[in-house]
Amino acid sequence: MDELAKRAIEVLHGNDRGTWTRPSPRLYPHQWSWDAAFVAMGWAQLDPVRALNELWSLLRGQWTTGMVPQIVFDLNVGRGRYEPGPNAWGTALNAPPGVATSGICQPPVHAIALARIREVAAGRNDGSLHEVDDAIVDLYPRLDRWHRWLRTARDPEGTGLITILHPWESGLDNSPRWDRPLSRVEPDELLDDLPRPDLTCVADPAERPTNPEYQRYRFLVDRLIAIDYDQDKAMEEHPFRVADVWFSAILASADDVLADLAPIAGRPEEGDRHRADAEHTRRALDTCWDEDLLACLDQDRITGRPIRSDTMGGFAPLIAGCDLDRSAVLVDRLFGPTYAGADGLAWPLPLTTATTDPRFDRRGYWRGPQWPPMTWLLWRALRMGGHTRSAATLRSNAIEQLRDTGCTEYVEPYSGRALGSDSQSWTAAVVLDLLSYDP
Ligand code: DGY
Repeated sequence: MDELAKRAIEVLHGNDRGTWTRPSPRLYPHQWSWDAAFVAMGWAQLDPVRALNELWSLLRGQWTTGMVPQIVFDLNVGRGRYEPGPNAWGTALNAPPGVATSGICQPPVHAIALARIREVAAGRNDGSLHEVDDAIVDLYPRLDRWHRWLRTARDPEGTGLITILHPWESGLDNSPRWDRPLSRVEPDELLDDLPRPDLTCVADPAERPTNPEYQRYRFLVDRLIAIDYDQDKAMEEHPFRVADVWFSAILASADDVLADLAPIAGRPEEGDRHRADAEHTRRALDTCWDEDLLACLDQDRITGRPIRSDTMGGFAPLIAGCDLDRSAVLVDRLFGPTYAGADGLAWPLPLTTATTDPRFDRRGYWRGPQWPPMTWLLWRALRMGGHTRSAATLRSNAIEQLRDTGCTEYVEPYSGRALGSDSQSWTAAVVLDLLSYDP
């Protein structure tokens, strides 16, 4: 068997907790929402039913409101190993009985994962398609509620864009996109004893967000606890409110997918609603287009202004499935000199921040490095948008990188050094999916 595939399978098994998977052995010992979606696609290559369990495990934590929480905690993990841990979120009355969760969410990749599991099962001819289709009947209403919660609680005015209340909700935690809105967040008091177990899990603390960022991350959580996660209130007064274009674009694409899954779930009449939602978001993304940067910009809902930073977020229209003219511009930029085509990169792959952005940081977590799951999302978008040659190039470059860096969390783009955890489940999942793809 292919050595890389073998390593990826080892990583998934190593992080497997039976019905769910740790994102990594030390740094992330619980179940994370968007990690779980990617991980499910990885399991699909080995066992589609195990892949479904990954989604079911996560959805055990779905709130009655419909929100799918960013973390479902494993209560067997020792106290203090991950912070903020299960007791720090004040969610005991919000989460389903017997399940401990955080109180925020992450990008909705789940429907995309479910459709991919189905596609893989359909190619296996072993009866698993039948099981997947049965599961879709039960999973679809859950995902529908999740999307509806996003489109109401987080977009009460029906703009088509989803507002995040915490940088962690974006999944791209410390992206320069959040610097300005976060700088205006002023914690009442600075915690002297801010717990940072995460810093002991990496070779160099510079690879993690800074203490001032963490003070604000914790403060934002405390503010949400203080209003008992009342979303109406939060959308009026929370000190961090940003319409996130990358998150919204993922939702648009996931809505297109839900439209396709609706008939399988026995709800064919609902397909049009999902398609209309997706289209609504695509139009909203159009209004966030910046002609100078040639990028789609997040909107700060507090100042009412776009956030000018040149990051991967700018490619949101590509993820959402925009028209050919716009996607052609974005494909040029993606492979151009400030992103994958930058001079001196070890592999020509997308960067999380443009090299020309003043806050580009080649080692800084989401501030520059290459992340295999983001490469995967862009690869999928290229494929779906009909950019077949570009998609094939991206895939082969990604596989070349992964052969060298293994299942690492992220990659320093110039030296090609693997950073963060070396046994990251979602990277393993991306490895298996990319290797399996048969155009
Ligand atoms: C972390 O703890 O770094 C996570 O990314 C937050 O979701």
